[in-house]
Amino acid sequence: MSFLVCVCVCVCLCTARAESAGTIPARRIRRLFSFQRHLLSSRLLRGAPQLNPLHILDEDYCGQAKCMLEKVGSWNFDIFLFDRLTNGNSLVFLTFNLLNQYGLIELFQLDMVKLRRFLVLVQEDYHNQNPYHNAVHAADVTQAMHCYLKEPKLAESLTSFDILLGLLAAATHDLDHPGVNQPFLIKTNHYLAALYRNTSVLENHHWRSAVGLLRETELFSNLPAEDSIERQLGSLILATDISRQNEYLSRFRTHLDENDLSLGNASHRHFVLQMALKCADICNPCRPWELSKQWSEKVTEEFFHQGDIEKKHKLEISPLCDSEANTIASVQIGFMTYVVEPLFAEWARFSDTRLSQTMLGHLGLNKASWSAMEPEASGSSEEGDMSTYSVTPNTQNNDL
Ligand SMILES: *[C@@H]1O[C@H](CO)[C@@H](O)[C@H](O)[C@H]1NC(C)=O
Ligand SMILES: *[C@@H]1O[C@H](CO)[C@@H](O)[C@H](O)[C@H]1NC(C)=O
Ligand SMILES: [Zn+2]
Repeated sequence: MSFLVCVCVCVCLCTARAESAGTIPARRIRRLFSFQRHLLSSRLLRGAPQLNPLHILDEDYCGQAKCMLEKVGSWNFDIFLFDRLTNGNSLVFLTFNLLNQYGLIELFQLDMVKLRRFLVLVQEDYHNQNPYHNAVHAADVTQAMHCYLKEPKLAESLTSFDILLGLLAAATHDLDHPGVNQPFLIKTNHYLAALYRNTSVLENHHWRSAVGLLRETELFSNLPAEDSIERQLGSLILATDISRQNEYLSRFRTHLDENDLSLGNASHRHFVLQMALKCADICNPCRPWELSKQWSEKVTEEFFHQGDIEKKHKLEISPLCDSEANTIASVQIGFMTYVVEPLFAEWARFSDTRLSQTMLGHLGLNKASWSAMEPEASGSSEEGDMSTYSVTPNTQNNDL
């Protein structure tokens, strides 16, 4: 049954892609308003779908991708290869496969047509011109989330509802990301900054965009918990705001010190899901070097691109965004030292497993590799303080 489903999704996807290729202006306008996209009417208005002449080739891609999915829980999973094999549809294939594998489609009686439509729309709302914050990053975070959900402590306590939320939050957590950061949106008076009052501007937008797609596709309209899904999705996505890292980390640390996390308690499970999503979101430095390195290059490219825009418009260049003052290695070493290591050290304390040791192992090796390329930047350079990485406590924010 799952094979049939795979082929069906594959063929339908090819159609969806061809459809989007021919309607760029409509897409641009839609993106501009995507925070209120649930108000827009059906995409059928965008014209008749064309047939993709390559769809026969895709059956073969589909076969190889299906093979890869047998190892979807492996920490070495190569999402870049998977994305090529699925013809740029890694997020749809991966998320669909996981929902199916966990039995969530059957359990929550999700309508297959609505689900497919929802996943295709999610994938399309990522900007594939962003070097980093695109659908492949979302697929990667979803795959990492899956790895964490399988860890014994979580696997034995999470409910199906928790798992559904965790996977959906991972898949949508950067939805419609513009490829620039919050300070940039604030200083350029972007409408999103005004809309969300300079607070978790991007994360609020990702969340509201996800809610828009859920409502547009009516994916959960048959579930009594629809409200609760929207709210909890928000609280998970907002936890990925890196400027609130210290707040979450110290709460986590306190729980671990007091040893008082009881996963029978729904609010404690929700907190653990938030931490798992935070880890999944910044786990790039914990992947094997060949994967990790590619992510580092992509994220730095996106930073430097922002810096170039800032230069061009004579704005102050944001930290880490000046290609003349930073290197990939210096950016990575600082990020690992001040953001990634502290988080994963606590995660390993919470979930003391082989996976956690593997991740810390890669983290150490990757940091050594970057350090070897950048002998003078040992994490204590002029840029080497936490505030550079926007990890400052922000007490104005409240959880939902
Ligand atoms: C957001 O920040 C900008 C720049 O600091 C400021 O001008 C604006 O008033 C702020 N908006 C809100 C709603 O706080
Ligand atoms: C669950 O944990 C929260 C926060 O620690 C606490 O307020 C609540 O009373 C707990 N619920 C139960 C049923 O123990
Ligand atoms: Zn992200």
